[in-house]
Amino acid sequence: MTRNSRWPGFYKLSVEERRRMAAEALGIDIRELIAAVGDGGLTCERADKIIENVVGTFSMPFALALNVQINGQDFIAPMVVEEPSVVAAASNAAKMVREGGGFKAEADEPIMIAQVQLDDVVDSVRACTRLRQHAGELVALGNDAVPGLVQRGGGVRGIEPRDLGDGMVVLHLYVDCRDAMGANLVNTVAEAVADRVLELAGGRMGLRILSNLCDRRKVRVTCRVPAHALASDGQSGEEVRDGVVRASRFAERDPYRATTHNKGLMNGLDAVVIATGNDWRAVEAGAHAYAARSGSYSPLCVWRADKGDLVGVLEIPLSLGTVGGPSRVHAGAAMGLRVVDACSAIELAMVAASVGMASNLAALRALATEGIQRGHMALHARSVAIAAGAVGNDVERVAHRIHALGNVSVDAARRALSELSSSSHSAPPPSE
Ligand code: HMG
Repeated sequence: MTRNSRWPGFYKLSVEERRRMAAEALGIDIRELIAAVGDGGLTCERADKIIENVVGTFSMPFALALNVQINGQDFIAPMVVEEPSVVAAASNAAKMVREGGGFKAEADEPIMIAQVQLDDVVDSVRACTRLRQHAGELVALGNDAVPGLVQRGGGVRGIEPRDLGDGMVVLHLYVDCRDAMGANLVNTVAEAVADRVLELAGGRMGLRILSNLCDRRKVRVTCRVPAHALASDGQSGEEVRDGVVRASRFAERDPYRATTHNKGLMNGLDAVVIATGNDWRAVEAGAHAYAARSGSYSPLCVWRADKGDLVGVLEIPLSLGTVGGPSRVHAGAAMGLRVVDACSAIELAMVAASVGMASNLAALRALATEGIQRGHMALHARSVAIAAGAVGNDVERVAHRIHALGNVSVDAARRALSELSSSSHSAPPPSE
């Protein structure tokens, strides 16, 4: 079904109205939507079967990022995140990117790496040669261990022995995981070939496990934003564009800044990863290892001015799945996948990366203009009001008051709340 992700003013609707509109636009029965994410998507009974020592469940907000267009196609991106302004920021920047034709994305085949480690190898050069000579046999052995994956068109694509010195040899097996994230498949392959690897290379068996540095499974996203789309109160689009480029150069020179730059990107990317039931620790570990590959921690996304426009370039390793994993047991994760409606794990990775790029752009634009606090604090004020004890309509009233005062703190919210309740006590009762 062709979708349009431009839903102007969606955020101004009530939760009920948003559910109705989303269900209709996504072609999902509203009762199914509510059953899946209305109450966290996971019963305690089910949770007790997923992990150990369970005493309850823990809900997070489930939201939709809008305006996302990738390679000419619209996507509604599910986001699970606890931080205010992240969803607004991603939708806001995706809207600007849209004005320049949307995100352009491409991805590698979904290749993961299995590692088989050998220690105390007497002649590591000979060991690597022997492993290379038996590549066909090792690939076949690996494939025999994952017949279902082979049937789906995936499987072991090749091997590469690596001599890490001091008698340590590591064999990499490249496994095409198709639409699975692949951790279990890859670990199965690693364990299945290990004995034969030991026979061929000698030494002592070490670890047999996947690598989360999935640098053969990268996504690349670019976007071109016309300067006028970046303009903000008091600053021209060209000034904002140049401010974003200066912010990017700062991150490119300084790992302290690059870390925060990448954190802003992961705000959006992780939220999609979590909403679709994927392993965000794996994604985080791979992303940051890749960001440090040159020896100096660097930004994953960089920004430049080109022919008057702002151009962004992102490259990130991303191991996401659309089958298996929590989507089978967590109703919220299954609904996240239905909402995004990606036709493959590759497409899901493109969506997550694009939302990450949008998050990065929104944060840099805010930082390069009014500062992060105005937009962020306006939305953060609601959480602060709740922390101060506000409920119902008082949440918005208190949030509005402390934001207008420029003091978004729990103390200010408590004062605002007590002023509101004393003025409502002293006010005459509403007429019948
Ligand atoms: P605004 O200019 O007031 O927004 O921005 P607007 O009213 O002009 O609306 C523009 C679009 O934004 C809307 O268009 C919505 O899509 C979206 P529409 O589709 O309706 O036609 N939008 C919203 N969506 C949901 N809820 C809302 C909402 N408001 C607008 N309430 C905004 C306001 C907060 C979006 C803007 O100030 C912004 O983008 N700020 C950046 C905030 C941000 O980046 N937050 C992330 C947390 S900060 C952080 O942790 C990372 C950091 O350290 C990273 C770094 O240092 O690089 C900063």
